[in-house]
Formats: sequence, structure tokens, C-alpha cells
Amino acid sequence: MTMKKHRIAVIAGDGIGPEVIAEGEKILKRAARLDGTFGFSFTHFPWGCEYYLKTGRMMPEDGLKTLAKFDAIFLGAVGFPGVPDHISLRELLLEIRHGFDEYVNVRPVKLLPGAPCPLVGVRPEDVDMTFIRENSEGEYAGSGAWLYKDTPEEVVIQNGVFSRKGTERIIRYAYELARKEKKTLTSISKGNALNYSMVFWDQIFKEVGAEYPDVKTYSLLVDAAAMFMVKDPKRFQIVVASNLFGDILTDLGAAISGGMGLAAGANLNPKRTFPSMFEPIHGSAPDIAGKGLANPLATIWSAAQMLEFFGHKRWSDKVLGVIAKMLREKLSLTPDMGGTATTGECGSAAARLLVK
Ligand code: NAD
Ligand code: IPM
Ligand code: MN
Repeated sequence: MTMKKHRIAVIAGDGIGPEVIAEGEKILKRAARLDGTFGFSFTHFPWGCEYYLKTGRMMPEDGLKTLAKFDAIFLGAVGFPGVPDHISLRELLLEIRHGFDEYVNVRPVKLLPGAPCPLVGVRPEDVDMTFIRENSEGEYAGSGAWLYKDTPEEVVIQNGVFSRKGTERIIRYAYELARKEKKTLTSISKGNALNYSMVFWDQIFKEVGAEYPDVKTYSLLVDAAAMFMVKDPKRFQIVVASNLFGDILTDLGAAISGGMGLAAGANLNPKRTFPSMFEPIHGSAPDIAGKGLANPLATIWSAAQMLEFFGHKRWSDKVLGVIAKMLREKLSLTPDMGGTATTGECGSAAARLLVK
């Protein structure tokens, strides 16, 4: 039998990025070795803030062309003091998400038993959501202007761009998932204040919904949704949100489901015309970088999403099972989870616990 090799471009990036990504690679290699029918090759690209300070660019001019040849991208984190965030993130992370039309950002918000939760009286089964965040346009379109800069007449304009195609496809993706998983679907909006973009969003949510009479839906204003995520998280199952609302609510989601150290994400190009990108949702955490304190489980969870995307659902489930076991039995956890393990110890334990 020929072995399927998945070619992965690794952008470890800045701060804790390289620390956590090393552990993500460990689990992927382990899964491949145990399975025997598939393998991984990892090609590392030294792109990020240090690269920027040396070259004036976050990645080479033909960076996307280089990445396009891979089956997936595994990214640690981007951003570090010394390079303005709006440059580092736009020229690397957002450039890849946009350039490769990774229009779906899947972010699980699941409280596993043993993970710390700041909410009183909330049980693990009460926090079990999947966020489907629009990832290609909306508030992140990068459209706008800075007029009369540095004068008293200064004006800045940041446009939200909501195309019919872009809005329909993300909402449809969410409906499909809700149908497949037999779950409810909640749309996040702000139609009471954003009188073009969010009125349009609500309209499309209804229009597309006509094709999914079997899916029970809710529509919530984003402020109320933030409140309910804290007060009554079990209302939410599948959630669909615009780029910015999805960004903000998934950090809130991380906070109620164990913290940034557990929050995973997949940037998907569902048509597979370009590589998808897997990354924890946290940043480069300059406050703990280089100390072995970073929790690699978010990255390992993202690795599980990658395994699923490649069709290795059984291994994806097994990796999630390992994370659950480590939390439940308090095995080799990092300080943010109340343990004393280093990043490397936590990641090695995860790899060891992954069995056939
Ligand atoms: P952050 O996610 O890096 O850190 C927020 C807090 O969470 C910090 O206290 C940090 O120590 C903690 N934390 C984050 N990840 C952790 C982990 N794996 N284990 C344990 N603790 C963890 O957010 P920030 O401080 O707002 O941003 C830092 C930099 O990262 C900025 O440059 C920002 O723009 C960038 N950023 C990048 C990404 C990305 O690459 N996807 C995401 C968010 C922020
Ligand atoms: C995330 C991050 C990014 C985003 C930033 C760093 C541009 O916060 O992946 O959640 O807002 O998408
Ligand atoms: Mn974010």
C-alpha cells in the first residue's frame, strides 16, 4: 500500500508560537507512526516578526505561491512588541486567510471535565458550542482610508464589507453543520445599530434558512449573546458570526471553557482550492514566551482539527480523547491548568498517551 504523505508548511511564528507548534508536530507524527497508512512532512518557514526586522517583510513576496504547494499550514502565533500589530498580522496571518480563501474559521468552545471554568454552577455539558466565524471579509476587509493624516481635520474610515457571496456561503456552511450534527444554530448580529451590514446579515440568515426547515434557529444581538454566553451558555450549539464578532466571542468562549491555552481553531478553504490553516486562537503571549509555560493543548487540539480535515477522523477523536484524559486526570498539565509541567512535558505526555 502506498503511504499518503501530507505536506505541511509550518509557520511557528513569534513568542510562544515555536514552543507550542513543536508539540503539535509531535502529536501529528505520533498519530502517523501509529497508523502507518499516512505520514507527514514538515517544512519550516522562519517568517514572522524577527524576519520582518531583518527583511522589512513578514514573508517573502512570493510567500503565498510557496505555501500554495502544501496540503495545509500549521501556524503557531504572530505578533511581537517591536513590530506594529496591524502590520505583522495583516501581512502574514490575514494575508494567508484572505489569499487562500479560508473563509470558514471553525472554533470549538467545549468545556472538558477538569478544565478550569470561572462560571458558577456551570457543568461541562453546558458549554458545548462550535463557532463558525466568517474569515474572509466583513469588518476585516481592510477597506478604508486615513484622510488629512496628522492634521486637526483627520478622518479615518474603516469599512465593513459584506458581499452576498461571502455572507451566504458562511451562513450556508453553518446550516449544513447544524443539519449534519442535528444541533441548533444561533446567528450573531447587531442589526439594531449596523443598519446596512447586519440588516443584510439577518436577511441572508432568514433566506438561506428557508432551505433548512429542519434546523432550529435563534438570532441574537451580539451584546446579548455575550451576556448569555456567561449567564446561560447551554443556549448555544452551532453559532455563526461575522469576522469581528466571531473573534471577540471566541475569546470569551475560551475564557469559559478553560482559557486561551485550550482554544483551537481551523481556517478552512472548504473547496480545497488552496491549503487550509490550523492554529490555536491565542497570540504569541510575550508575557510568558521562552519560559516553557505555554500550554500546547490548544495547538494539539488544532492538530486534531487538521487530522479530521485530512479524513483521519478516528485519530482526531483519539487526540481529543487524550486532551480530555489529561484534564480529567490532571496529567502533565501546564501552570494555566493548575499543573507544573513545562510546554514540552505536556506535549510529550500527550504524544505518549496517544495509542492505537
Ligand atoms: P495572547 O493570546 O497572546 O495572550 C493573552 C493572555 O493569554 C496572556 O496572558 C497569555 O500569557 C495567555 N496565553 C495565551 N496563550 C497561552 C497559552 N498557550 N498558554 C498559557 N497562557 C496563554 O493575546 P495578546 O497578549 O492580546 O496578544 C499578544 C500578541 O499576539 C499581539 O501581537 C497580538 O496581536 C498577537 N495575536 C496573534 C494571534 C495569532 O497569531 N493568531 C492571535 C491573537 C493575538
Ligand atoms: C485571532 C486573532 C486575529 C484575529 C488577530 C491577531 C488579527 O485575534 O485569530 O483570533 O483577529 O483574527
Ligand atoms: Mn482573536
